[in-house]
Amino acid sequence: MKKINIKSQVARINEFNKGYIATHLINIGNEIGIFETLKNSKKGLTIPDIAAKLGLYEPYLEIWCQTAYFFEILDCDSEGRFKFQPFLDKILGDKSNFRNVLASFNINVNVIGERLRISPEYYKIGGIIDGYSPKRSELVAEATKPMFIFLKNYFTHLRNDDPIKQMLEQGIKFLDIGCGTGRFIIQLAQIFQNSRFAGIDIVNHGIEMAKKKILELELEGRVSVKCLRGEEIPYNDEFYIISMVVTLHEILPDVRFNILEKAYQALKSNGRLLIFDLSFPEKLEDFRNPNYELGIKDQFVETCLGIKHLNAQEQNEMLANAGFKDIQRTTFEGIDIIIALKQ
Ligand SMILES: C[S@@+](CC[C@H](N)C(=O)[O-])C[C@H]1O[C@@H](n2cnc3c(N)ncnc32)[C@H](O)[C@@H]1O
Repeated sequence: MKKINIKSQVARINEFNKGYIATHLINIGNEIGIFETLKNSKKGLTIPDIAAKLGLYEPYLEIWCQTAYFFEILDCDSEGRFKFQPFLDKILGDKSNFRNVLASFNINVNVIGERLRISPEYYKIGGIIDGYSPKRSELVAEATKPMFIFLKNYFTHLRNDDPIKQMLEQGIKFLDIGCGTGRFIIQLAQIFQNSRFAGIDIVNHGIEMAKKKILELELEGRVSVKCLRGEEIPYNDEFYIISMVVTLHEILPDVRFNILEKAYQALKSNGRLLIFDLSFPEKLEDFRNPNYELGIKDQFVETCLGIKHLNAQEQNEMLANAGFKDIQRTTFEGIDIIIALKQ
């Protein structure tokens, strides 16, 4: 183990501060279009070139470029042309690349930053910051794109004898609770053409975005969405599969059990509840286990929204109390996949 001394501790803590500055540098680079411009230039661009292309104030741009050089985000040749370090054209440039991380910087600075800035007051009084805004819905949708690549892979690689795949292929009614902008059910509707999909969410803005997309893709015959609270689901014995994609943790504790009961009611017997959510540790030691990093960070930034992540044992208990049987769990890269049966 590395020896800890005061110097090493100062250095380690100061790295966090450096990360904060780098976060803003990256977010500014994204917002003023530098990354987009550099992505298209193999040889690199000089500061006057970038300033002219993007209409930027050169003296400030110069400082940005020098600092990006310090952070080893950009390199510079002897002619003063700046370009991305290897692979960063994908990670910071090309927004269509699945490894691109700009969306998470965007949400950290523009949504989470402000929330964390005002949160100390809430640590004193409790209470909940109203976290839902159109901007948040859009940025969350952008930042969670990699999750949808994961989900697409998951469903296209299900074994032929998997009951979920069999049901979806035969043609069933499927409900997604907390559907956000409808991406999950839209994606599934494109893979499984015999099934019909419904989505509900508490936030109307996401629902409106979903409606537009459904019409654009001409899926309105098989996919529908509605602005409805999970705790007000009116269905009985109607769906073969109900899903929640990174939603279980985000439902406020006072209605969470109620929603699971409503989901149970809405399922047909032999139907399945399918949950994808961030893994959260049970024991304190596991808070240093990198497998839980996503869940731990998410819980922290959502604390003052009143959100409380559940660990595996708490989820299992709640599902069993709502009536679910045969609760099966797997974990993949920080994501828990839970399948529970209504007998
Ligand atoms: C992290 S987002 C995930 C959205 C979507 N499943 C996705 O992956 O893009 C969680 C969603 O749960 C919704 N939500 C939270 N509480 C809810 C409730 N009581 N009823 C219905 N939806 C709820 C939020 O509005 C939000 O869209």
